Amino acid sequence: AFAGTSEALPPELPAQGQTVSKELTILFGSQTGNAQGLAKNAAKKLEGRGFQTTVSSMSDFKPNNLKKVQNLLIIVSTHGEGDPPDNALSFHEFLHGRRGPKLDDLRFSVLSLGDSSYEFFCQTGKEFDQRLEELGGTRLSARVDCDLDYDEPADEWLEGVISSFSEVQGESAAPNSTVATQVSESVYSRTNPFKAEVLENLNLNGRGSNKETRHLELSLEGSGLTFEPGDSLGVYPENDSALVDMLLEEMKWDPEEIVKVNKQGDVRSLKEALMFHFEITVLTKPLLEQAAQLFANVELRELLSPGNEEKLKTYLEGRDLLDLVRDFNLLGVSVEEFISILRKMPARLYSIASSLSANPDEVHLTIGAVRYDSHGRERNGVCSILCAERLHPGDTLPVYIQHNENFKLPTKPDTPIIMIGPGTGVAPFRSFMQEREETGAEGKSWMFFGDQHFVTDFLYQTEWQKWIKDGVLTKMDVAFSRDTEEKVYVQHRMLQHSKELFEWLKVGASVYICGDEKNMAHDVHNTLLDIIEKEGGMSREKAEAYLADMQQQKRYQRDVY
Ligand code: 2AM
Repeated sequence: AFAGTSEALPPELPAQGQTVSKELTILFGSQTGNAQGLAKNAAKKLEGRGFQTTVSSMSDFKPNNLKKVQNLLIIVSTHGEGDPPDNALSFHEFLHGRRGPKLDDLRFSVLSLGDSSYEFFCQTGKEFDQRLEELGGTRLSARVDCDLDYDEPADEWLEGVISSFSEVQGESAAPNSTVATQVSESVYSRTNPFKAEVLENLNLNGRGSNKETRHLELSLEGSGLTFEPGDSLGVYPENDSALVDMLLEEMKWDPEEIVKVNKQGDVRSLKEALMFHFEITVLTKPLLEQAAQLFANVELRELLSPGNEEKLKTYLEGRDLLDLVRDFNLLGVSVEEFISILRKMPARLYSIASSLSANPDEVHLTIGAVRYDSHGRERNGVCSILCAERLHPGDTLPVYIQHNENFKLPTKPDTPIIMIGPGTGVAPFRSFMQEREETGAEGKSWMFFGDQHFVTDFLYQTEWQKWIKDGVLTKMDVAFSRDTEEKVYVQHRMLQHSKELFEWLKVGASVYICGDEKNMAHDVHNTLLDIIEKEGGMSREKAEAYLADMQQQKRYQRDVY
């Protein structure tokens, strides 16, 4: 060991002077594309710093090759109730098997993505981190858990990883300034959004509907932004001015006071800061913890103390910053201090509803307006209600493209596709159809759509009818849940056609699900298993393996939220 410094190093790491492999394997598990984008950026940065990197989705990585990997970086998000993303499932299962592989020679580090408003924050990353250690691996650097605003912590994590190598090799870790960190060609990105002009903003639902679904057309002209069907658009919304006013009044603050809005020191009026830069409509546990400390509030501390977990969970649900301030009478700190505990305004991701080849320089969205009553006050979805009530043609909206490799048309244009997209889940399939029409793809296609009422809620009805007529769409089945005594859902239509559906699977069709995750996607998944079991004459286990295999071949893809 190298005298002097070796004590400070983990004993498993080679000491200075020894050769250390600078080969890094980066595996990502990504649902919406964030982890994938970070993985690609990390690879670029690392390449510029003299590393050789291999980047792969966890689902494309052969688990048995793990033995050959010396340095492993894991970038993984968590979604739903602490679940791994679809493309992390098989690798997660492989590692967590009862006897998992022995990984004594592995050095690793984990970057986990999550949202602190969810109970199982960064759960999947935590599990990988712990498991890799249990299997014998050594950490290159500590795991970093990121909240929605992940750019800075992700950078710090990567610097930590890099310096763990240079500590060992005695190299300078000076950044190579010539390395580009943008993945996309455009200068516009998540951190530098493009102000897209609104061209159209329509309500797709008819009079008398329970729903309001906005069809938004935005101009990308001059942005250099491009996308493929299946990608999403990130949108930075603004908070409702009326809600901000209520908050300001409650806190007895001057809307014109000038405050810093970021670490770089940019300043805005307080009113603007609360409208554009900070999240005020969601409460998280970390926010409450910081507030308890900042205001030295005993009641809030009590709510956060061990034993009160359920109470806390109930409190956080359906409440916002205004409730917090009112309920705990949070007064008497400076504006700057208060602002410093708020999360940055996060972007909202929407599945893109148009194809660039069919609508050059445009991007279309299908957005469901979210309105509900909670704790005695009317609440609004921040972005959807901005679009529904306050956004007009000629206005602009800050946007960026979120590429999503997990939801892509088959590479062969003649591969049949089955699309299941009730409600706003219809969006990417409009994009798929536009693309297939525009490119003259020959593959068969089958759409399942559902919503409440035929008369008011058949989103893009005339477009679907035209595609059927022109033969771009081969089959369409619809389920209007509230037109009949008994509810009919898309999965009921699938079951009615189970034989034919399985025939499609047998000849290699790809299946896509988009829309509500918790109920719809879950039920549709089980229905697919039922169909495979019944029509394929398989056991449940075999059917599960069949669907898992389809997923592995990217023939079963989901864009769910
Ligand atoms: P509902 O509102 O009548 O229950 C789009 O929102 C459509 O999805 C609606 O028709 C809605 O029906 C339906 N839906 C609700 N829960 C569902 C589930 N678990 N599976 C499939 N569709 C569902």
